Amino acid sequence: MPIVWSAESQTFHLRNDRISYILRVLEHGALGQLYFGGALSEARSYAHLLRREFVGFSNRLGEPVPLEYPTPGSGDYRVPALVVEQADGSRVLDLRYASHRVFSGKPALTNLPSTYVEGYGEADTLEILLADVAADLEVRLYYTIFNDRPAIARHARIRNVGHSRLTIHCAMSVSLDLPDSDWEMLQLSGAWARERHLVVRPLQPGSASIGSLRGASSHHQNPFVALKRPSATEEAGEVYGFSLVYSGNFLAEAEVEPFGTSRVRLGIHPEGFLWALEPGSEFVTPEAIAAYSDAGLGGLTDAFASLFRDRLARGVWRNQPRPVLINNWEGTYFDFDEEKLLAIATSAKELGMELFVLDDGWFGQRDDDTTSLGDWVVNRAKLPDGLDGLARKVEALGMRFGLWIEPEMISRRSQLFSDHADWAVGVPSRARTEGRSQYVLDMSRHEVVDHLYNVLSEILGRSSISYVKWDMNRNITEPFSASLPADRQGEFMHRYILGVYELYERLTRAFPNILFESCAGGGGRFDPGMLAYAPQAWTSDDTDAIERLKIQWGTSLAYPISSMAAHVSAVPNHQVGRIVPLQTRAAVAFFGVLGYELDPTTLTDDDRALVADQVKYYKARREVFQGGRFLRLRSPFEGDGNETAWMTVSADRKRGVVGHYRVLNRPHPGPARLKLRGLDPAASYRVSVWPAGDDPIATANTGVRGGDELMKVGLVVSSEDPWDSRDRGDFGARLFDLEAEETSRRRTRP
Ligand code: GLA
Repeated sequence: MPIVWSAESQTFHLRNDRISYILRVLEHGALGQLYFGGALSEARSYAHLLRREFVGFSNRLGEPVPLEYPTPGSGDYRVPALVVEQADGSRVLDLRYASHRVFSGKPALTNLPSTYVEGYGEADTLEILLADVAADLEVRLYYTIFNDRPAIARHARIRNVGHSRLTIHCAMSVSLDLPDSDWEMLQLSGAWARERHLVVRPLQPGSASIGSLRGASSHHQNPFVALKRPSATEEAGEVYGFSLVYSGNFLAEAEVEPFGTSRVRLGIHPEGFLWALEPGSEFVTPEAIAAYSDAGLGGLTDAFASLFRDRLARGVWRNQPRPVLINNWEGTYFDFDEEKLLAIATSAKELGMELFVLDDGWFGQRDDDTTSLGDWVVNRAKLPDGLDGLARKVEALGMRFGLWIEPEMISRRSQLFSDHADWAVGVPSRARTEGRSQYVLDMSRHEVVDHLYNVLSEILGRSSISYVKWDMNRNITEPFSASLPADRQGEFMHRYILGVYELYERLTRAFPNILFESCAGGGGRFDPGMLAYAPQAWTSDDTDAIERLKIQWGTSLAYPISSMAAHVSAVPNHQVGRIVPLQTRAAVAFFGVLGYELDPTTLTDDDRALVADQVKYYKARREVFQGGRFLRLRSPFEGDGNETAWMTVSADRKRGVVGHYRVLNRPHPGPARLKLRGLDPAASYRVSVWPAGDDPIATANTGVRGGDELMKVGLVVSSEDPWDSRDRGDFGARLFDLEAEETSRRRTRP
């Protein structure tokens, strides 16, 4: 039984073969947190694990142990998980255990995305009811432990059981105390066009935090942090990971107190947030996932990637091979007509691509980015036969048709703004800030969500549309809703995201066969909340392959590669002006959901031949590229960052592809090898090199190699001969294809 309650020791032990999470009802009724980490025997009691190291606090409860859901007033001066203002203005709380229940399966969260199970046997859930009688407050904490995953899903429901309003100022999804502070905090940080770079910093006394106050999870920080031991590597060492299934303002914080213990909390950002909890009503926090790995960062990635791929992403596209697409954005920008689009689609079809995506510029008067968002009416000057006509013609070529939309936005120059200026987010008495010449629609208003649902479902229902790219190109600057009273304006940012989720929910339900891809000026909302509706996301507007090494590496920490859309684009690259060989651009974009974002009619015959070969290569290994286990081998964030290597391996370990990239070529580099991971040591793999050629590296590696040799000795990635590198130039890439020989029957456990 994965969740055991011992009435004798008053402890809960949530356990599977990988992890244990232990709680205890303390003598005075508060809920204490005893342990989260590697699995402990279920046969023993752990009540004695009370943390004496907390003696530094004047603890009202008389027991020196961290609280499971800390509040002000417990004598613990660290950051709380829950702050609720009561009718008398007090924020002191005293939550006591009232009851609990354990059940099979996992509950869904009201109006919020979450991980799920497909059978009762996949997970068990513990619900603990805590109550503060004086405050008329009830808090239900939920813990789901999955049978075979080193992860716990948590959220809280907060209910007003009294007769006066309560005001929530802070309601975290998870709070976890660790007994020491010998940790490094790992975060995924960046900006537009360089999202989710890896940043690691040691914990110090005081707090380290990341977050977003932009109304979206943001390009700048991602709702994910890990705490790793300084010595932990990709393969070994202790690591905790925390991820929030949420797309709005968030805070992730690690605090080290004077006695060297650490507290991590993750949830909706308390800054600017409040929630008026009327009598009888309830607030639900987003879900947080807390994972533990003693197999380093790679173990953490395995946990998050498989959970998010298999039990967060939903719908028919979750397990289906995703199409190789051609997107016209960088190929044409706003300058296109039907003839041009069909020429692109025809050419892309000849190269083996499967889905044509029409990006921005098909509606209203939109010939640049200053107008028409909100006017989702096809521009007949560009597309005389409408979207349905274009879709039909694209499908007649043997391709599917996909469409870009940006539902949450409104241009000042639009019919929608003339009709409903108050639908734009902003304070009525003040000027609104424009971003990319546009405003944000007030998604906290039901009539706005209804309007968008009606307009979009009409478009999606009328034409044959197989894919939607849902963009969101600016953040909220003046949070305010004309429909909320003064004392509820602090609810706006959360209500905005709830409105976005509602629209996603309704559209994905109404159009279950459409593949949704989320986007926010590239990777500005690449988060688990979006992943629940859109199984893939536009990873970054930066399509330069060298920049993508860092972006995709960082993203892979917490997300499956099936969620990362990656495109080959033209050179000089439109974001950084770099000229990277076509084969290298593909060798990077292969590790994700492949697309092309260029005008294929302008390619030379030689390049067309290369692209046709790339698409063929990718399709032949699509399941390994999109659904394999991703392993990071050589980091672009380490040393001088000149080399990157990673690989993906099928679940049965019979197929794999290794990518090895070198930014600058170096003279006379000397011999070097790359050790692989995740293979079957007993299997024999046929190794082939792409692009094919007869260079010395290809010659040195081509042939049959044992899985053990590939992992213990490795592939040759640089040769002793100083002349070998002469003709390769900068920005080189090689892929090594691994295919287990059928004759190998001896299996070993992974
Ligand atoms: C954003 C997206 C791009 C493209 C443009 C269109 O920047 O990230 O991929 O769709 O909008 O305006």
